[in-house]
Amino acid sequence: MSGQVVQPSGPIGTEIAGYRVDRELGRGGMAVVYCATDLRLGRTVALKLLAPEYTRNDSFRRRFHQESRIAAAIDHPHIVPVFEAGETDGILYIAMCYVHGLDLRAVLDRDGPLPVPAALRIAAQLASALDAAHEHDLVHRDVKPGNVLVTEGVDSEHPEHVYLTDFGLAKKSLSLTGFTTAGEFVGTLDYVAPERVAGRPVDGRSDLYSLACVVYETLAGAPPFRRDDDLELLWAHQYDPPPLLSEERPGIPSAADDILRKALAKAPDDRFGTCLEFVTALRAALADSGPRRRTPTLVDARAAGTLPAAEPVPAPPAWAGPVLKGPEA
Ligand SMILES: Nc1ncnc2c1ncn2[C@@H]1O[C@H](COP(=O)(O)OP(=O)(O)OP(=O)(O)O)[C@@H](O)[C@H]1O
Ligand SMILES: [Mg+2]
Repeated sequence: MSGQVVQPSGPIGTEIAGYRVDRELGRGGMAVVYCATDLRLGRTVALKLLAPEYTRNDSFRRRFHQESRIAAAIDHPHIVPVFEAGETDGILYIAMCYVHGLDLRAVLDRDGPLPVPAALRIAAQLASALDAAHEHDLVHRDVKPGNVLVTEGVDSEHPEHVYLTDFGLAKKSLSLTGFTTAGEFVGTLDYVAPERVAGRPVDGRSDLYSLACVVYETLAGAPPFRRDDDLELLWAHQYDPPPLLSEERPGIPSAADDILRKALAKAPDDRFGTCLEFVTALRAALADSGPRRRTPTLVDARAAGTLPAAEPVPAPPAWAGPVLKGPEA
């Protein structure tokens, strides 16, 4: 372990479990994520290390192990692949695919609201990842822009590819008691479903609510509920109607308000059945009008009176027989 520097740069330059820690990528509530080199394979990875102050905390240790097992169990193009997880010299780590790009939080902070087509593409990718997790009976529980990694897509049809990461708060749906108790929240409250606030059981529909908050933010520039005070924010999730997206973002048709209202319903039973159902409905609502309006056809133009009436249909040739002939023939 040559060139090891413990302070002030922390583990940067050191070797941990066969990974050389190169630079910090970001930090969250319980861990710091580094860009590192897998010295066995010579590839770049993202190495997530549990913050030292939590290493002796059993609850955090369990959550860390849980995250790695859950994330590694799902093989999906929009979920960050986990390579390895373990513990060495009292340090808990997860090595995962390094995603070259920015998280969606950083993208929104930099660019503001996204163009409608980009918001829909990102929503669809997240929806497919979440539905796959839900089919495994897993609930993410922390869907938020900071847990969405955005990288370049494969071609102009798919300009961006997004990954859902950080199953740190995920748990087996309704079957485990979990590591957080009702009232204990980790991270932001902007995306938390009302049933979680109320301490009721959560399932995939709670992720759908959070996804709807994220999608709302990608289109409106801010999540549906913003309050100065945490308690007021929790109250709003539970009782306040979401502001109309069509009023927050010019050009969005009111049909989209109905879709968001359903996805953000206070009662899970009133929401869509799956995340993809939500995104499909939203896409349809946005396609009806606004920037994604379909190209008008000749029939539309005639209906709008901008084209002369259709020419009379010519009489079918004699050999066509009675089937194609009009009633007067
Ligand atoms: N696989 C990865 N590839 C590239 N960057 C990553 C990867 N995983 C995480 N990051 C970066 O590290 C940051 C911190 O991640 P982390 O999950 O620890 O915190 P968080 O999501 O912001 O907060 P929380 O602890 O509430 O989940 C992310 O926001 C992202 O920018
Ligand atoms: Mg995270």
